[in-house]
Amino acid sequence: MQWAKLHSKARFNLATSGVGAFPLRGLDVSIDQLEINGDNSYGFAPLQHAIASKNGVDSACVVEAAGTSMANHLALAALIDPGDEVLIESPTYELVVSTARYLQAKIVRFPRREENGFAVDPVEIRKVISSKTKLIFLTNLQNPSSVLTGDDILREVGDIAASVGAHVVVDEVYLDAVYENTPRSSFHLGKNFVVTSSLTKVYGLSGLRCGWILAQPDLARALYELNDLFAATPVHPTEILSVIALQNLDTIRERAKKIVEADRTTLKHFLDMNASHVAAVRSPYGTTSFPKLLHGDVAELLQRLRTKGETTVVPGKFFEMPDHFRIGMGVNHEMFAEGLRRIEQALQVC
Ligand SMILES: Cc1ncc(COP(=O)(O)O)c(C=O)c1O
Repeated sequence: MQWAKLHSKARFNLATSGVGAFPLRGLDVSIDQLEINGDNSYGFAPLQHAIASKNGVDSACVVEAAGTSMANHLALAALIDPGDEVLIESPTYELVVSTARYLQAKIVRFPRREENGFAVDPVEIRKVISSKTKLIFLTNLQNPSSVLTGDDILREVGDIAASVGAHVVVDEVYLDAVYENTPRSSFHLGKNFVVTSSLTKVYGLSGLRCGWILAQPDLARALYELNDLFAATPVHPTEILSVIALQNLDTIRERAKKIVEADRTTLKHFLDMNASHVAAVRSPYGTTSFPKLLHGDVAELLQRLRTKGETTVVPGKFFEMPDHFRIGMGVNHEMFAEGLRRIEQALQVC
């Protein structure tokens, strides 16, 4: 996270994970619609309803949170005690591993193997699950590969978790980057599913910090009470803006979709043309891709790329795969295409 905040910027910044920022003026909102304080002790009813209706769930199952970041933190903190076992996919979004470590969980990893297309393999979960397991954590789409896990596999994971009384926490912050036939939230797959998400990655609305947790009503209440120790009360002006954004979600998503799709076409061409240097599991969805460098050292490549090519991508070491790097789509197509051209140049030296 510190690297992303302090060191990822460059003229050709492909070190992103979500689409470009959506501007306030795009929401067509006037100052008269905003208010500083509101009735939001345990959620602002219009926002609770808007999130519930987006996900096809009852409002009692919705907990507002400050982004998916706080949603993940609250979900993990509510479900595990120090020493409890937590199964986390590998590779994954590093902050979740750090959060589990901070909560003093016993962390057990299960692989999503690249040679298996980064698929979630229930066999790998069965190998490591135990009576001490309290939760299984997945990202869907996966960060970094953008691979989609379908309902059949998720249901199987839910059954495995249920066999030891554990929950499945699915971070769906990238799921809406499946633009056609967007899957329903996995919250619907079973009572032991807990889902986290936000309007950050697919909608370019990070600044609203409009995140949420979907959980069964008892757990949802416990999560809100736990949040009294952290954020306590949500930021009301952004709750109002979030309701307006949720009313215009399709239009907001459509704007970035064009850029993401143009970028993916260019990326496909890049991967085809540079197949002797890089290989990537191709996902038709999402805003990131995670190529492997076939020869040479990623750290050296990225250093050269930054100093000579003014271009950044995310080092694979942040996903415990140092021979990979992550490329982000969906910000600006010209910048993306030029960034790829510069990566291609830098690869010639490997
Ligand atoms: C899988 C995953 N979850 C959560 C987050 C953080 O999201 P938010 O901005 O909603 O807190 C990220 C950011 O990169 C992410 O990749």
